[in-house]
Amino acid sequence: MTIDLAIVPVAGHGTRLLPATKTQPKEMLPVGKKPVVQYVVEELAQSGVRRVLFVTGRGKASIENHFDVDAELTSYLRETGREEQLAELSFERLDVSFGYTRQRRQLGLGHAVLCAQTLARHEPFVVALGDSIIGLNAKSQIVRRMIETFEKQRADAVICFEEVAQSDVVHYGIAQPKSSSRGAPKEADVFELAGIVEKPRPDESPSNLAVAARYVFQPSIFDHLRAVGPGKGGEIQLTDAVARLIEQGGKVLGLRLAPDEKRYDIGNFESYFRAFVEFTLADGDFGPALRAHLQKLLAEAP
Ligand code: G1P
Repeated sequence: MTIDLAIVPVAGHGTRLLPATKTQPKEMLPVGKKPVVQYVVEELAQSGVRRVLFVTGRGKASIENHFDVDAELTSYLRETGREEQLAELSFERLDVSFGYTRQRRQLGLGHAVLCAQTLARHEPFVVALGDSIIGLNAKSQIVRRMIETFEKQRADAVICFEEVAQSDVVHYGIAQPKSSSRGAPKEADVFELAGIVEKPRPDESPSNLAVAARYVFQPSIFDHLRAVGPGKGGEIQLTDAVARLIEQGGKVLGLRLAPDEKRYDIGNFESYFRAFVEFTLADGDFGPALRAHLQKLLAEAP
């Protein structure tokens, strides 16, 4: 049976997006017409995921409500003949079941994944971070390719990477590819990891290949998560568990994002604003007029 389970951590406070995230989860911020987390779920569904297990936290109930069927709203739209708006709710019928568990203490991403262990049980699974969209309008097939690679190559983990500027490595988990200690493997390659490090200093970084929010794991990762202590920022880091897996002989493969599959990070205002602009400019209904408006604004700018 192929992998059809994804754990989606959405418990973080989103402090870098205050005040927008004071009472609203960052995963529910709109990027164009949809909230971030809807793109994430749609991307997973098109890659064959049928069960999504959210690891939530305080103040995240609106995520659960968003994926619920709202019968009252549906019949109101139907009775008032608003077929177009009704079509916007078609995601309610995605062929996906949802589960929710809470991370009751904020002890880091690794700890959030560990919170799902008893529900995920003993099968391989995807981890997709709920604040990152892959590809414009989440059209990426990266998770499907990761699952295929994982199964074909009998890996213990497959992680997706994107190239970042050397000065930005401090924000990410960074790969140490097996073939070379520095520098990146060839475009579009699947590569094996000799190590991985969370948020290194640029002068100590083994490469500029950054973990890009999607992983596939054997359930053995839970043992490694239990074994690692607090890492960067005093938190239980998923990256440290992967490093331990590699140290103990595990086969961990990296897969690069294709050039048209860039990662949209909704964790800070700069990249959130950029994502919003890109998605709205690409919108079939509103994009062209918005483009003209922006061009006018830019032409008038001092
Ligand atoms: C997390 C991971 C990091 C990864 C990043 C983006 O960091 O710890 O390894 O590169 O997500 O996928 P965070 O953004 O939570 O600081």
